[in-house]
Amino acid sequence: MPIRLFEPRDAADWARIFHAAVHGIGARDYSPAQCAAWSPSPAPVEGVLAHVAAKHRVWVATDAGDVAQGFIELDRDGHIDCFYLAPEVAGTGIGAALYAVLEGEACQMGLAKLSVEASEAARRFFLRQGFVVQGRRDFERHRVAIHNYAMTKTL
Ligand SMILES: CC(C)(COP(=O)(O)OP(=O)(O)OC[C@H]1O[C@@H](n2cnc3c(N)ncnc32)[C@H](O)[C@@H]1OP(=O)(O)O)[C@@H](O)C(=O)NCCC(=O)NCCS
Repeated sequence: MPIRLFEPRDAADWARIFHAAVHGIGARDYSPAQCAAWSPSPAPVEGVLAHVAAKHRVWVATDAGDVAQGFIELDRDGHIDCFYLAPEVAGTGIGAALYAVLEGEACQMGLAKLSVEASEAARRFFLRQGFVVQGRRDFERHRVAIHNYAMTKTL
């Protein structure tokens, strides 16, 4: 799958992928109430554009029609923010391809470390990429208890 930088026309696909990933993949590890709290509904396009504008880079993996099927986000300080794949393309190596582009950029920037707050599925993914779990984070979203893992990788 080709990988390119996010463009504003990807915003509706970003929202579709995020919501579908939470309910189609996150549901393996999180309860229906937790998934509903994580993504109650697809985000509005304006909200996505404002969110993406604050990122250093957002890459999308696209299908043959140049429609985004997954994305990964890098903050300037080496924090990995959103990382979501459409359930139809999850588990096919596209996540690893997206991550490889991000890590390459991080190295180009001279970053010493990457960090992420990883869901259960993402924890398994990032362990395979050489990340180390620093600790479990328990918190509430929309008054529902949920958790993820603080992870880091030294570059
Ligand atoms: C995290 C994510 C981007 C990883 O991408 P990926 O390329 O699918 O990664 P992997 O193939 O290494 O799979 C990671 C885990 O995702 C889950 N997964 C992968 N493909 C799946 C599919 N088609 N259906 C359901 N779950 C799937 C599995 O739990 C897998 O772990 P396992 O192989 O140990 O069972 C992707 O799983 C995703 O979008 N998850 C939902 C959203 C999410 O949790 N984002 C991260 C927020 S920090």
